[in-house]
Amino acid sequence: MKQVAAVIGAGFVGKAHIEALRRLPVRVRGTLVSSGERSAAAAKSLGLERAYKSIEEIASDPEVTAVHICTPNYVHFEQAAKLMRAGKHVLCEKPLAMDSRETATLVVVHGGFLQDWLTYPTDWNWRLESKLGGELRAVSDIGTHWLDLIQWITGQKVEELCADLATIVPVRHKPRGHVETFSSAKDVPSDEIPIDTDDYASVMVHLDHGAKGVFTVSQVSAGRKCKLHFEINGTEGSLGWNAEDPNTLWIGRRNEANAILIKDPSLLAPAARPYAAYPGGHAEGYPDTFVQLFRDYYNYLDAGDFKAPRKFPTFSIGHEELILCEAIQKSAHERTWTKLHWD
Ligand SMILES: NC(=O)c1ccc[n+]([C@@H]2O[C@H](COP(=O)([O-])OP(=O)(O)OC[C@H]3O[C@@H](n4cnc5c(N)ncnc54)[C@H](O)[C@@H]3O)[C@@H](O)[C@H]2O)c1
Repeated sequence: MKQVAAVIGAGFVGKAHIEALRRLPVRVRGTLVSSGERSAAAAKSLGLERAYKSIEEIASDPEVTAVHICTPNYVHFEQAAKLMRAGKHVLCEKPLAMDSRETATLVVVHGGFLQDWLTYPTDWNWRLESKLGGELRAVSDIGTHWLDLIQWITGQKVEELCADLATIVPVRHKPRGHVETFSSAKDVPSDEIPIDTDDYASVMVHLDHGAKGVFTVSQVSAGRKCKLHFEINGTEGSLGWNAEDPNTLWIGRRNEANAILIKDPSLLAPAARPYAAYPGGHAEGYPDTFVQLFRDYYNYLDAGDFKAPRKFPTFSIGHEELILCEAIQKSAHERTWTKLHWD
């Protein structure tokens, strides 16, 4: 690939980006983390040649053509704007910002995204603080994945929705020191902090071609690690998938036996085949999604035709996700159905 990347934020997802870029391969030149001083240690441990002290240093590095933003939500918009103004391609983690300022007939879609890593009052992460993660948490952190997935697969957009949100753990213990994402903070000095973001949400949706659906997100469902799942029921059959068992697709039939399709490129449709990198029987999962997404992204940049259709989510899709989040928040607050205004 012709591009040279820098990655801002080298926590949980930043490391996944760097690993996927190396597999493509795209050259990763350097990183910047929360304090410029810690960048040197991060760059050294990741084997990167440059440790940046500021966004401005990345913006003015002529070697870097593309920048991945893997930082907490509250800095995404500001960092993306600065880098785009400097002429860099930007690949930004979800959510794009804190709010939106900055066939056979498909009948039913249902599913959700369930996790347990915030079950205990002693579980802590920056996402719990609305000033760092946004006013919505489970909806914005994981509900956006479900909404994006369902709208991409069905080709339909949410037209209206009705949401119910809850904060199941109203007070949490915030450790006084630094805490890594997905780690627990028991037995360390902490302060009690009231929580105002959602641990749980159930949302009914109506899609624009008439399908109806419902999904539940939760970060307090003991035993569910990353249950991003959906079932699509059409007039001729159903499809079901669960990210915790990502190499199998359940196919439901009314008049014949149900089937389980085990991932095997030779059995996939031509459009889906390139997204299975390994032969049948060789499992693929979460880290492979980054490789496939980045391959589409960097092939597009290398081709240089910026009018061609894009197979990856764009900033306008990121903006639409925020419009969805705001509609969910409004609906839960007003306890009523809310229409989406996409323009
Ligand atoms: N697509 C996915 O599957 C996925 C999964 C997890 C997280 N995410 C998204 O990725 C982002 C980061 O989440 P995470 O779990 O990796 O968090 P994390 O806390 O593990 O890592 C955050 C990183 O950003 C750095 N950082 C913080 N403030 C910064 C600043 N102002 N400038 C530069 N660096 C800064 C930190 O030093 C750290 O290296 C979030 O927006 C989250 O929504 C996406």
